[in-house]
Amino acid sequence: MKLSNAKGKLAVITGGSSGLGYAIAKELASKGFDLLLVARNEAQLKEASSKLIADSGVKVHTTSVDVSKEEDVLSLKETVRSLAPCADIIVNSAGIVSGGFLVDTPLAEWDRLYNVNVRGLVSVLKSLLPDMIEQGGSDGQERHIVNIASAAAYTATGGMSAYGSTKAGVLALSESLAHEVAPSHVGVTTVCPEFVKTPIGSKVMLFGRMDNARSKRIIEKMFDRSTITTDELAVKVLKAITSGKLVVPAGKQATIAYHFKRVMPVRFFKMIDKALRF
Ligand SMILES: NC(=O)c1ccc[n+]([C@@H]2O[C@H](COP(=O)([O-])OP(=O)(O)OC[C@H]3O[C@@H](n4cnc5c(N)ncnc54)[C@H](OP(=O)(O)O)[C@@H]3O)[C@@H](O)[C@H]2O)c1
Repeated sequence: MKLSNAKGKLAVITGGSSGLGYAIAKELASKGFDLLLVARNEAQLKEASSKLIADSGVKVHTTSVDVSKEEDVLSLKETVRSLAPCADIIVNSAGIVSGGFLVDTPLAEWDRLYNVNVRGLVSVLKSLLPDMIEQGGSDGQERHIVNIASAAAYTATGGMSAYGSTKAGVLALSESLAHEVAPSHVGVTTVCPEFVKTPIGSKVMLFGRMDNARSKRIIEKMFDRSTITTDELAVKVLKAITSGKLVVPAGKQATIAYHFKRVMPVRFFKMIDKALRF
């Protein structure tokens, strides 16, 4: 999708009030896209929109929506319809994380992760995509979806079965979706970042045997070792939209892991087992 004629076009960004979503929103605003930021906390949404308006001058709308709540997502569809014929770009960045061995992670936590990271993302797409497809059928213009998964989708370390499987789900459903929407001129990119310093670092919940100081230190170290900033990631995402790239591992570690696992899966498993044991 070309990003050069963005005037009057709308980008909808879930999780746009913070971290990766905010950085991508900023980059899209710099290209001239109007924005609709979606998250739960209204004060944070307002703060993010004020900064974006001051920096870019584009129109920035906000809506308080919990993507895991069906009635909220229905209202999102109406909000988008009040602003434009359809979303031109959807970025699904809203997400949550936790760590714990499979048997230590309560089923309620599996539900919480799946309800936001998978079901929430799917429900946003089910609500906004039909208008995008219909509009594409009449104007023939290209549009794009960006789903933020994680390198955890393929690194699959111990202690990450719940979170990692939500992100593996996002990767798989995005690849299927790419086939489904290609005839309607809609591209799909899945982004798989390594640990990136964002406010999510302070929200990681740990369960059972991982709920201790040592695990917390290991996770902090992973955030400290990040090889990519939120702004660098946002630039990468926009390049991927332009080139129509299907999967984007973001960060040196995420990129090496992505290729290493494909070429040498057994060695990769042994390496991860040695390097990261909670
Ligand atoms: N940072 C990393 O290291 C990293 C690495 C790989 C993948 N990721 C993925 O990247 C995405 C963004 O993470 P981040 O680091 O930018 O985290 P963040 O700074 O905590 O931002 C998360 C955003 O999602 C929103 N959100 C959370 N739950 C929501 C819900 N139920 N409904 C609507 N909005 C919700 C939050 O706002 P409210 O709380 O106000 O709703 C916030 O705007 C996530 O999907 C995460 O899994 C992050």
